[in-house]
Amino acid sequence: MTGPAEPPSATVVDNIGLLVTSDPALGDGPLGLVRNASVVFAGGRIVAVGPAGQVADRRIDAGGRCVLPGFVDSHTHLVFAGDRGDEFAARMAGRPYEAGGIRVSMAATRAAADGDLRASTARLRHEARRAGTTTVEIKSGYGLTAADEARCLEVASAFTEETTFLGAHVVPPEFEGRPDDYVAEVCGPMLAAAVPHARWIDAFCEVGAFDADQCRTVLAAGRAAGLGLRLHANQLGHGPGVQLAVEMGCASADHCTYLSDADVAALAGSDTVATFLPATDFSTRQPYPDARRVIDAGATVAIATNCNPGSSFTTSMPFCIALAVRDMGMTAEEAVRAATAGGAAALWRDDVGGIRPGARADLIILDAPSYTHLVYRPGVPLIHDVVQAGDLAVDGGRIPSVESGR
Ligand code: NIG
Repeated sequence: MTGPAEPPSATVVDNIGLLVTSDPALGDGPLGLVRNASVVFAGGRIVAVGPAGQVADRRIDAGGRCVLPGFVDSHTHLVFAGDRGDEFAARMAGRPYEAGGIRVSMAATRAAADGDLRASTARLRHEARRAGTTTVEIKSGYGLTAADEARCLEVASAFTEETTFLGAHVVPPEFEGRPDDYVAEVCGPMLAAAVPHARWIDAFCEVGAFDADQCRTVLAAGRAAGLGLRLHANQLGHGPGVQLAVEMGCASADHCTYLSDADVAALAGSDTVATFLPATDFSTRQPYPDARRVIDAGATVAIATNCNPGSSFTTSMPFCIALAVRDMGMTAEEAVRAATAGGAAALWRDDVGGIRPGARADLIILDAPSYTHLVYRPGVPLIHDVVQAGDLAVDGGRIPSVESGR
């Protein structure tokens, strides 16, 4: 005979000097700050947020450090093969960024074995977690055939539920000069192959990629197939992307580097999140967007890494936070919120991006007394421990600060 199921054992992260809940209802200011706090989680979920000294089966001593929600990186392209370091070096020497480099990664990705694609994605996912990322969106977009896009999405699904079909990344060489035929391929056989592995659909709305009508066609087909919508918008110059994202009800308009007053007003009057990708502007020598203007207008904003082999080869959300504060007019509070609750909003998630009862137990213990050190100490690995869905096993081992229980 079996008795009633044992309740899951509970863990308390105690002795937190400064807790960032990212939920203004739970503490002071926009980050919902609580001093001298503890957080209890069980079964992968947070069950209590309270003063230091709460008791559970197991105790992690945060040692007075700052604890914040795991980062939500809502825009990455982690599935690819090959290296474009030479292209980056040429850019640093003065060559402009061009979307055509995507085809270089496409050729390498098509040629890569499944196992190699899985291994390189695992390496990058692991690298991101060590930098504090506990939720990540991953796009396809370097396969650009039905079979290769499906393969890339299948690889991505092993690492996240937030998978995005990006067949409309660029026109591949076999469709050169026939972009509308390629759009028909994306909306037909490619979408059918992608749908079983994707939650979202995305398109690159830019000169040199796809125009507004082509992107609208792709997004409408994705919506009809049950996918949520996102859009690469206004990355390399002014254009129709942001307006299209708002018109189509996209969860997020990503990049937003070049915004007109009408674009800012459209974002502010919509539920579409403006997602900034500052490491891209860093790596392509583009101007940084004026986030201040977008926030002051009332839009919801997120920050993401856009990790990809061409325009932004970093998995570091702390680096992006530092850039957003240094160069985009955001306060440290706004940048941390954009990297946590903002990313969650861009993915329509209410279970991540904040530390509150019921949320997934995704926590970062920072090796610093305050989140401001993410900006104040740029480039320094400040992530002491990461808890993901209540899992303490980071880097294949138990984290060192776990102590015994009650
Ligand atoms: O978001 N803009 C389109 N896609 C990526 C660039 C990919 C690449 O250059 O390989 C981006 O920047």
